[in-house]
Amino acid sequence: MVLVGPSGAGKSTWAAARYRADEVVSSDALRGVVGSGPHDLDASSDAFDLLERIVAARLGRGLTTVVDTLGLDDARRTAWLALARAAGLPAVVVLLTTPPELCRERNRGRDRPVPAQVITGQIRKAGSIATTLDLEGWDEVHRTDETGGAAESAPERPLGSTTSTTAERRTSQGLRFVLQVGRFPWGEDPATWLAEVALAADRAGFAGLALLDHLIQIPQVGRAWEPIPEPWVTLGLLAGLDTGLELGTLVTPVTFRPPGITAKAAATLDALTGGRAFVGLGAGWWEREHAAYGLPFPPARERLADLEHAITTMRALWAPGTKSAGGLPETTCYPRPAHEIPVIVGGSGDRTLRIARAHADAVNVRTSELERARAALEGSDVRITVLDLPTIGRDRDDTWARVERLRGSTKATAYAERTYAGTPAEQRVRYGALADRGVDTVFLAVGDLDGPDDVERLAPLVV
Ligand code: UTP
Ligand code: MG
Repeated sequence: MVLVGPSGAGKSTWAAARYRADEVVSSDALRGVVGSGPHDLDASSDAFDLLERIVAARLGRGLTTVVDTLGLDDARRTAWLALARAAGLPAVVVLLTTPPELCRERNRGRDRPVPAQVITGQIRKAGSIATTLDLEGWDEVHRTDETGGAAESAPERPLGSTTSTTAERRTSQGLRFVLQVGRFPWGEDPATWLAEVALAADRAGFAGLALLDHLIQIPQVGRAWEPIPEPWVTLGLLAGLDTGLELGTLVTPVTFRPPGITAKAAATLDALTGGRAFVGLGAGWWEREHAAYGLPFPPARERLADLEHAITTMRALWAPGTKSAGGLPETTCYPRPAHEIPVIVGGSGDRTLRIARAHADAVNVRTSELERARAALEGSDVRITVLDLPTIGRDRDDTWARVERLRGSTKATAYAERTYAGTPAEQRVRYGALADRGVDTVFLAVGDLDGPDDVERLAPLVV
């Protein structure tokens, strides 16, 4: 990203409001590093040598780089464009459209003003570049507003504000957010940790809370010796809290429990919560946990047949009355569920999607599988939910710090891209697009949910 504008246009201010200090490479700042200060013109040549090296090194790693110079030198500007192209990165020019009079006025107010005729020359040059910039081949030429003003206000939501307690908690974009909890760094007091996380999720306005259902912590999330509690027991604890959260699993493998037992647990949870239970259901995939717990792990074809059978069995047990149904001699399941318990099928294989279409209320896929799911469910009223695993920081600095902490040995830029790293305001743009593509509910799973403070960090998403 290359800034263009005369002295006093507000380039450095614009960049500082939007980018991390390390992302901005400034000729003035580098004059201060190799010279007596930001206005030491004798240090210009050394400063620009350094600037070019920094820009090249950052682009080589795919890192966001904001070049804060006047940007008026055609040769330099187009060389940065070529460098970005060579690195396979998008290249953007930001043209500061601050009125010349304002630039002059700000300049006069500075400790070391630029001579008036120099500013005049810069303003003229900026004006002529403005007319040809669109032809240079940038991916985008962004013109700031007339005032050269500071950051547009991002849609932030004040923490701790009251939230909707109605049955349907949807954001202004029409989405429901369910917090998926898969790691349990609860220290010495599991019950308190769980309660605080759930209460924070309720305050933040989440529609629900979902637990992973695994017997051993899965490698995608943590180490095998980290705690992963039995979810239906744990949901019973959460049911005792005063929240409006929907509670369920994402997802319960049909291989763990006979379907009637899952139906019984879900019906009980629904009764205890006054109709806030849901069941995520999948075919199971991790052989190791089955072996470790002495459970059969039949081939996929059989597990998928079991998935289909499980849904019809559960529905039969939840249906009113007791009669023979779904292959059962009687369907005697008391307490009755307090509402129609939604079944969310997890997975995106062809057969899974067919089963979901025939029997489920919703299907849960990864965002990358959204189009497959849409095609398979076209014309049905089965809702689409996505499991989203983003990196979300309070601001740009915090986001990047989290990427550095979480990325392991993955390249930072690759991790950031894969986890859609960004601030809540940036995530909202992405969620708006998901809503437009037919997503009903986002199951939000963040890798660094350490406690209730982290739930509050996510609150701006749930506006
Ligand atoms: P900058 O220091 O951001 O301008 O703002 P610049 O374009 O980077 O200038 P050069 O090229 O490095 O010299 C100039 C002055 O204008 C004020 C800033 O606080 C600074 O004193 N400013 C900038 C505002 O008052 N409002 C703004 O929206 C932007
Ligand atoms: Mg500046």
